Amino acid sequence: MKKIVINGGKTLNGTINISGAKNSIVALIPAAILTDGVVEIYNTPHLTDTDNLKRIIELLGGKIEFGHGELKIEGKDVKNGIIPADLSNQLRASYYFMGALLGRFHHVEIYFPGGCKIGARPIDLHLKAFKKMGAAIVRDGDKYTLDAECLHGAKIYLDVASVGATVNILLAASLAEGESVIENAAKEPEIINIVSLLNNMGAKISGAGTDKIVIKGVKKLHGAKIETIPDRIEAGTYMMIGALVGQDFTVSNIIPEHVDTLISKMRDMGVDFKLEYDSILLNRVEKLDSVNIKTLVYPGFPTDLGQPMAVLLTQAHGTSNFKETIYEKRGGHFPELVKMGAEIDYTDVTAKFKGPCKLHGADVAASDLRAGAALIIAGLLAEGTTKISNIEHILRGYEDLVEKLSSVGADIKIVED
Ligand code: UD1
Repeated sequence: MKKIVINGGKTLNGTINISGAKNSIVALIPAAILTDGVVEIYNTPHLTDTDNLKRIIELLGGKIEFGHGELKIEGKDVKNGIIPADLSNQLRASYYFMGALLGRFHHVEIYFPGGCKIGARPIDLHLKAFKKMGAAIVRDGDKYTLDAECLHGAKIYLDVASVGATVNILLAASLAEGESVIENAAKEPEIINIVSLLNNMGAKISGAGTDKIVIKGVKKLHGAKIETIPDRIEAGTYMMIGALVGQDFTVSNIIPEHVDTLISKMRDMGVDFKLEYDSILLNRVEKLDSVNIKTLVYPGFPTDLGQPMAVLLTQAHGTSNFKETIYEKRGGHFPELVKMGAEIDYTDVTAKFKGPCKLHGADVAASDLRAGAALIIAGLLAEGTTKISNIEHILRGYEDLVEKLSSVGADIKIVED
C-alpha cells in the first residue's frame, strides 16, 4: 500500500504554480465527444481522474492524446457503447457521459458514478431533467439505460443548484431540439468554463455564471479550443499551507475572484498575505484569530475547502465554529486531526475548534480527497513524522503534489508500505 510520509515543522519558501481545475477538466473531456471534430484543451492537469476519463473515451472509440498540459480529443470514431461499472465507479464525473452520449446518440448505458464517500450524492436531479427532455430511463441495480427517441429542450428547475446536474443538462441540451432553460443553475466558475467550450464548439448558451441558463439546441457542433481555468480548490489548499508554514510563499496562476471567500476569511484571521493580479504571497504569522465558517454553493465558502480549512482553525486563538451544508458526511478528517493533537468537538456536519493546538505527527488515513488535503496540511505543520494512508484519494485531485511541495522545501515522499 502506498503512503505519503511527511516530516513536518519545516518552513516552506518559493512558488507553487496552480494546475488546471479538476472539476473543469472532468467536464471538458466528456463534452469533447459531442462533436466528431477535434477539441484541444490547454492547461490540462494530469490526474487519476483524467486518466480514467481517457480510458472511457478510448473504450468508446475516440482518440485522445496527452501532451505537456495539452489534450487533443477526436470524437470522429466514437461509437455508443456500455460504460462498465469498473470504469463508471472510478470517479464522480463519469456521469457526464450520460449527458454527452444522450446528446450525441440519444442512448446511454452506464453505471452509478463513483467519487468521494461524503454523503448520499443522489443523481435524481440529472435523471429528472433527462426525463423532461424526452428520455426514458430504465434502472437495473446500479445500471442506467437512457433512451430518447426525440431529445427536446425543456424548462428545468433544479431543487438544488447542483454542479453535476447543471453540466449534464448543458451537454444534452446543446444538441437537443428547441430551447432549454435551467433555473436555479449552479454558478461555479467551472460552469462558465464548460459553457465557453460548448459555445466555442457552436452551441448557443447564455447566462452561464447566473442562476438562469438558456440553451438553444443546435443540430451539430464542431471542433474547438479551450483553456482549463486554474483549480481554485488546489489554490486554496496551497494558500492555507502558505498561511501556516510559508515564508515568502507564493501561490501563482490563480484567479483571485475564485478564491474570494477564502481570502476574506484569511483577512479576518489576520493571515499575512499580499494579493497580486494572478498570484498571492503569504507568510506565516505568530497569531491567528478565530472565525466561523459555513460552507455554501458558489460564491459562498466552498465545501471542498471546508476540510483543509479545519487545519487553519486548529491554529486560531479561541473558538471557531464550522458548519457543512452541502454534504451529510464530510467529517472523515476530524478524528484524524484529533489523533494529531487538535481539539475538535464534532458531528458529521458541525465542528467546534479550540485553539491554538500544537499538532504532532501520527499514522492517519485519508477518508476522501479533501480530507486527505487536510492531512497533508496538518502533516506539514506538525512536529515529527506523519504517515498518511489511502492516498489514492489525494492523487485523484492534486497534480504533482509531492513534487510541488518538495520544490518549496517540504520533506515529503510517497513510500510503499
Ligand atoms: C461537484 C464537485 C465537488 C463539489 C460539489 C459542490 C465535480 C466533479 N465535483 O460535485 O467537488 O464538492 O460540486 O461544490 O465537479 N444533489 C442531489 N441530487 C442530484 C445532484 C445533487 O440531491 O441529482 C445534491 C448533492 O447530494 C449535494 C448537492 O446537491 O448535497 C450538491 O451536489 P452537486 O453540486 O451536484 O455536486 P457534484 O456535482 O457531485
